[in-house]
Amino acid sequence: MRKTASGAVAATTLVTPAAAPVGGDVASSVRTIAEGAVAWEDGVITYVGPANGLPGAELFDGCTIAPGFVDCHTHLPFAGWRADEFEARLSGVSYRDLHGEGGIFRSARMLAEASDDEVLGFCLPLVHEMAEHGTTTLELKTGYGLSIEAELRQARLARLLAEQAPQTCTVTLLACHAIPHGVDRADWVRAACDELIPAAAAEGIADAVDVYVEDIAFSLEDLAAIAEAAAAAGLPLRCHADQLGASGAAEAAVALGARSADHLNHVSPAGVAALGAAEGTVAVLLPTSTLFLRAAPPDARALLDAGAAVAIATDFNPGTSPVLSMPEAIATACSLYGLAPLEALVAATANAAAALGLERSRGTLAPGRPADLVVLDGDAFRQVPYRPGHNPVRYASANGRRVGGA
Ligand code: NIG
Ligand code: FE
Repeated sequence: MRKTASGAVAATTLVTPAAAPVGGDVASSVRTIAEGAVAWEDGVITYVGPANGLPGAELFDGCTIAPGFVDCHTHLPFAGWRADEFEARLSGVSYRDLHGEGGIFRSARMLAEASDDEVLGFCLPLVHEMAEHGTTTLELKTGYGLSIEAELRQARLARLLAEQAPQTCTVTLLACHAIPHGVDRADWVRAACDELIPAAAAEGIADAVDVYVEDIAFSLEDLAAIAEAAAAAGLPLRCHADQLGASGAAEAAVALGARSADHLNHVSPAGVAALGAAEGTVAVLLPTSTLFLRAAPPDARALLDAGAAVAIATDFNPGTSPVLSMPEAIATACSLYGLAPLEALVAATANAAAALGLERSRGTLAPGRPADLVVLDGDAFRQVPYRPGHNPVRYASANGRRVGGA
């Protein structure tokens, strides 16, 4: 069957954020159309409105049309699973304990041992599985290289994966993820600033730079140094912030003008206030990694009440979140973090697009935008948070081409 980049669908409800990023009273910013429809031509949306204005659209009765999901935090490409570490953690070993020979270092070894074709052969089916679950835009990340050359290789592999993926992908250089064995932390940060970031920027293989701030990883001073190098290279900053413990990384990320602060399990009241007042820093929540690590959830309601632009992503990686489904991340965000369904919708679409710097093109449905959309089981987006484990996607289109649904 030839996939065309044109089409039209109608459903019982259409929901879309009106703009991005959205902080504060998120649900009231959602545009809802009963008996709504979307049409697109050559991959671009031409109509969003009542279905009676669009005769001939394929009707999905009892369903919801929404923007395609934007997974703004993943650790693809990687090259193998770590299920035995999960089992060890179930018997009492901590994630910190595994960080040494296992964890990030083990994924780095698996990536190094795999050929380029093996890495792409491992990742491409996963990216298609993400499309089947409604992800039409996603972030790819390095961080399993742990040397200059290996980080650059992973970024190049990410670009190759992006070319082959059915979705839109961005690439983040996670320049500081773990301190390579046998290397002094300060030496690695200097190499990342002086060699890795400029090289990745010159080659055009990174769209952003990320730092993992944690007691087992990098410090606030390291974050500031990387921020300076990223700015000099013209790349926006992101930050793994306050995941395993409180470090002040969230407020530091805001002060440095980062595009996002991610995880936030242990964000302080000062961090919540900073994210609430931030102009351009999205608070990216990763509820499936919280569930999987059996960690304390962040106070998502405090973030929303403070006015933060909250996003949800999967954090898809073999250690802390082997979950690639955005519907699953949304369901977990609602049950574990207490988000309302429409708050979760905005977080998984418009605000997630803002975390990737794609708010002008992705994450909302409007004429002139790329036709990234999903049709989901249940009206008014109610079924997605309510039925974890069920894939609600009846239809998914990325740039107007069908990528998901039967
Ligand atoms: O986002 N915490 C740091 N990085 C990842 C996990 C990486 C891994 O365990 O492979 C995270 O949770
Ligand atoms: Fe992560």
